[in-house]
Amino acid sequence: MSIKKTIAIASAKGGVGKSSITSFLAKKLSRDFSVGILDADIYGPNQHIIFDVTSAKPQIIEEEHKKKFIPLNVDGIGLNSMGFILDNKKAAIWRGPMLSGAIKQLSELTKWGDLDYLLIDMPPGTGDAYLTVASEIKPDGAILVTTNCKLAVSDTLKSVEVFNKLNLPCMGFILSMADDSQGKFILSTDEVQKILGTKFLGSIPFCNEIKNFNFDSIDDSFFGIVDNITNA
Ligand SMILES: Nc1ncnc2c1ncn2[C@@H]1O[C@H](COP(=O)(O)OP(=O)(O)OP(=O)(O)O)[C@@H](O)[C@H]1O
Ligand SMILES: [Mg+2]
Repeated sequence: MSIKKTIAIASAKGGVGKSSITSFLAKKLSRDFSVGILDADIYGPNQHIIFDVTSAKPQIIEEEHKKKFIPLNVDGIGLNSMGFILDNKKAAIWRGPMLSGAIKQLSELTKWGDLDYLLIDMPPGTGDAYLTVASEIKPDGAILVTTNCKLAVSDTLKSVEVFNKLNLPCMGFILSMADDSQGKFILSTDEVQKILGTKFLGSIPFCNEIKNFNFDSIDDSFFGIVDNITNA
């Protein structure tokens, strides 16, 4: 099993589009590369819903006296998610060590096979999930997702600080649900870039195709972002 590049898609701010962008990037990347998604959002896993496999389960095999997961194949993308393990209807109320243990096991016990890219859909916040992912999975880099709202950028800056502390290289940021509106709390791309101090990878418009996960019409904006990622 070899994974060439592991990338965490992250932001301390909730609801900015991390899971949506992860799924579209995976779809776009999977045209030319072998790709896996690890949904590390213990509290609100979404990838199994996005790919419409809520009743599916990854195959479990026994190897060296350990149970291992074969990731689910969704349109050629390998997927493993806490969503396959948790009861969909029950919210996970877990303490830090349990949360860390779950992410660690999910990552260690998944037989990804050979992948060019493993994308990790991170939960919001900057807590235990980040520590576990940084120390146990050791991604090659993290991509930040933020909207151009001042509040989202302020929270996303906290992620930058955490990544710096954890020595996790920041590959840049994606401006999500971007629009041209202006106002006191709406920042320009340049302003966002200055605050976050990291590379601008591209912006994704607010549109219904993305909201509906219509992968047949992958927005052009993902092409430039994927080029930036694959050339990094
Ligand atoms: N570019 C977009 N255009 C329209 N709607 C979008 C876009 N990106 C995300 N959304 C919508 O915004 C909501 C939040 O998106 P998403 O779940 O991907 O965010 P998230 O950062 O993963 O959230 P969480 O922090 O809860 O994990 C969803 O309803 C999604 O469909
Ligand atoms: Mg999410």
